[in-house]
Amino acid sequence: MADAGRAGLSVEACVQRLKRYHYALRRLHQIFTARITAEPIYELKTAFSLHAHVCAQHVAALRERVGEMREPPLGLEAVPDPNLEMFFDEILGAPTTEELVTGLYAKAVPALVAALERHRVDTNPLADYPTVRLCRFALLELADLHRFGAEAVKCLVDDPARARISGWLALLDQCLAAAGGLDGAAAPAPGAIGRQHSVQPYVYDGRPRRDGRFPDPYNRGVNVEAFIYNDQLPPEPKMLMLFFRRLREIEIPEMMASIITETKGKPWGYYREMSRQLWDEARHSLMGEVGFASLGVDWPKAMVNATYALTMNTRLNPLERHAVLYFVEQGLMAKTGKRFEWEVALASQNHLASLFQDFDWADEVLHARIGRDWYLPEFKDTAEALKFGDDRWNILFTNWRAWRDQGLTQHRNWWPDLYRDACEKAGVAPDPVVLAFSETYEHRRADLKKVPSPAAGTE
Ligand SMILES: [Fe+2]
Ligand SMILES: [Fe+2]
Repeated sequence: MADAGRAGLSVEACVQRLKRYHYALRRLHQIFTARITAEPIYELKTAFSLHAHVCAQHVAALRERVGEMREPPLGLEAVPDPNLEMFFDEILGAPTTEELVTGLYAKAVPALVAALERHRVDTNPLADYPTVRLCRFALLELADLHRFGAEAVKCLVDDPARARISGWLALLDQCLAAAGGLDGAAAPAPGAIGRQHSVQPYVYDGRPRRDGRFPDPYNRGVNVEAFIYNDQLPPEPKMLMLFFRRLREIEIPEMMASIITETKGKPWGYYREMSRQLWDEARHSLMGEVGFASLGVDWPKAMVNATYALTMNTRLNPLERHAVLYFVEQGLMAKTGKRFEWEVALASQNHLASLFQDFDWADEVLHARIGRDWYLPEFKDTAEALKFGDDRWNILFTNWRAWRDQGLTQHRNWWPDLYRDACEKAGVAPDPVVLAFSETYEHRRADLKKVPSPAAGTE
């Protein structure tokens, strides 16, 4: 009775705060997404993918809640406070990983957590129950972000770096103070603030960067599909190729981040679903990493390339990228696609591989549906949409020789090294036929169709 009887926020005051949480989560979603591609550290790429997905979900929930509070027009696209805008612009434009992770996880996320906790204290829990519930769920997941972020900052930002960026961190605090806190509940601190990293508007960097475990990012020296679909080869080494195929999916978040970042003005459902898919693809990559780890295999022996994301992000527009994604994912629905991979995993008798392929397949069915909902309506019919994607896909394969000629890679066949390592860890002798596998992507695409000559491609 005491709790339910206490004075709380009015509907108007509640909506004002909700719009600020919504804005903060939207900006966090934007920053996590936009910074995946050019961030070299694998663990940050995958974490940003998850955190973008989480933020997108809470944005959707908050939009719905504001819509329930007799508020039309909702004004959800408006900036609630220019100082909050500056706060997030500064983090988006952070020039180093140290500043980025500190700004995100030591400033923005804690400020949002504090605001949502305050909401639970300030509002009437009976009258504003639906908001209290949203806050509780958001806090649950934000606590995960916070925990991960604190660990990341500890690992990546040493004392000299912290000292170097302390002036900028103080600027972030000033932005929040001038906004009256993230929720606007405090009196705004007076005084003018000068921008530092956001003097120039942020420009998205679509060139993927990788850390030291990815030493040969242009390498397309092992045609994984030619191996998996060769029925003369045994299932156990195919399982290794499947783990590689999963790990290699890190290119998809790097590429999808560009679509989401550069496609403006869609309904929130688009960003929410595309972000779910983006995180799924990062998760598939992690399945590959975990698969290799479970076998004790040193996966950096496999050359995980980055040319898919690089080529798509720099040579195709966002709709063309989505077209390629759609085309490839529709192909996965055939009997020779995800079902086949799952059957190969079952035949290899590796339980983790079959479990991962099972869920990977389920995720891809969802992605095919997301493609049908958000990509297909741009075209007259499915055939036209598929042909557009098929044509654009060729661009990923027609550069093979150019990269070698430019000295960017030798397309070295890394398979024997990886396979030998796996055999050694498993205590078995390598099969000479498997060891001798040597086919690149020079002549055949990943769907085993012939690569068109560069003249005929989209060059
Ligand atoms: Fe995937
Ligand atoms: Fe997918």
